[in-house]
Amino acid sequence: MLRVALPKGRIADDTLELFGRAFGEEIVFEDRKLILEKGNFRFMLVKNQDVASYVYHQAADIGVAGLDVLEERELDLVKLLDLGFGKCRICVGMKNEDSLDLDAPEITVATKLVNITKKHFAKKAMAVNVIKLNGSIELAPLVGLSDAIVDIVETGTTMKQNGLKVVEEIMPSSVHLIANKNSFIAKKGEILELYQKLNSTIKD
Ligand code: PRP
Repeated sequence: MLRVALPKGRIADDTLELFGRAFGEEIVFEDRKLILEKGNFRFMLVKNQDVASYVYHQAADIGVAGLDVLEERELDLVKLLDLGFGKCRICVGMKNEDSLDLDAPEITVATKLVNITKKHFAKKAMAVNVIKLNGSIELAPLVGLSDAIVDIVETGTTMKQNGLKVVEEIMPSSVHLIANKNSFIAKKGEILELYQKLNSTIKD
């Protein structure tokens, strides 16, 4: 049995659709249920940011999560496959009229992605004061909470609608299949079979 952690919402829907195509059967959760057993799989629905924790602590053998979340959590996991959806970019954004002042003694950056932000500015040898937010990141520079933001840009509409622009791209992201290191050894055959099925389905 392979235990699969999925993030609630659109990524779970897209993943179940992909598994459904790979295994030739429809996979649908009953309303409000968090566990679904189908064939050799037990699917569980968790919060996006928690997928890596379930897999790292081996409550799930494999999981599906955005590269942004995986980079942020910095956990030792096996990255198996880029599933090719959930494509976006992690960017530094500022108000249209502002620009990054490389000589500023310190800049304040609002973000959900604290570790990615710290690493990015450390590489540029810039001092940052990071303010952790949980959503509506684009609001922060508009009301003087921060000079800049680090956030996910998908279509760019949220930034545009709020008078913000991308000043730097930190990394691209998309949804990846990940595995727990011990599960990858103990259940190698099952995991590789799944990997191959998904990989060939993605390419179809
Ligand atoms: C994400 C992200 C941006 C927006 C980007 O927010 O934090 O705000 O989507 O998408 P766009 O480039 O297509 O406009 P999400 O919808 O997850 O909400 P929250 O972060 O504010 O909770």
